Amino acid sequence: MNSAPTPIAQEIQSIFNRIAPEYDRLNDQLSLGLHRVWKQMAVNWSNPTPGSVCLDVCCGSGDLTQMLARRVGSGQVYGLDFSAALLAMAQQRAERSLPLPITWIEGDALQLPFEPNFFDAATMGYGLRNVTDISQSLQELLRVLKPGAKVAILDFHRPPNPYLRAVQQWYLDTLVVPMAEGMGLKEEYAYISPSLDRFPIGSEQVALAYQAGFSSAVHYPIAADMMGILVATK
Ligand SMILES: C[S@@+](CC[C@H](N)C(=O)[O-])C[C@H]1O[C@@H](n2cnc3c(N)ncnc32)[C@H](O)[C@@H]1O
Repeated sequence: MNSAPTPIAQEIQSIFNRIAPEYDRLNDQLSLGLHRVWKQMAVNWSNPTPGSVCLDVCCGSGDLTQMLARRVGSGQVYGLDFSAALLAMAQQRAERSLPLPITWIEGDALQLPFEPNFFDAATMGYGLRNVTDISQSLQELLRVLKPGAKVAILDFHRPPNPYLRAVQQWYLDTLVVPMAEGMGLKEEYAYISPSLDRFPIGSEQVALAYQAGFSSAVHYPIAADMMGILVATK
């Protein structure tokens, strides 16, 4: 990484390093496997083409990165994350699959280690809510994308409808945190609720994308507006 992360970023980094061993299992159990469908939607909306060079930022254990790599075929995909433990899992997962054109990079989403105008497409799955500076992260994505290229950013947000907000909170309090507690990770998953309180809803994400300099931005709500995919074009 170029420079040391801030203390808050270090805390986030250490949370994800601690979560790493159980991360995939919890994702599957808590979403009933649906996170794969939502990640595939993000890949589709980023519009990767065979032979292209693509980036998956905040790649974690790398399942979305692999989906992207299957789409580019003979191209190249970079999976970047600042959690060494999750990146190690991503590498192990990739070694178990058929060979894919993926380069894993330990790096910071706020200081992407790439030249401007380098990528044909980019994705980010459940990462934007976790970075310490959303605007800087969007500006970095804009910088490294080629003109006309798209980034698709998948994440949870608080649903505007109060009943759906209550359902989401019930899901977090009754299913997510107790299940994580059973794996010794209560504190690590309790951070999700405050992170959602801070995170912009879809229309605000669109406004932030325009402020960062993207030429167009659309937010597609999914899963009863409890999450969505921001698609921004350079
Ligand atoms: C909820 S996980 C998502 C992982 C994966 N994309 C997925 O969808 O399963 C969020 C990821 O963001 C990473 N992350 C958070 N802030 C980051 C930053 N500033 N730079 C790089 N990675 C970061 C964490 O290490 C973690 O792997």
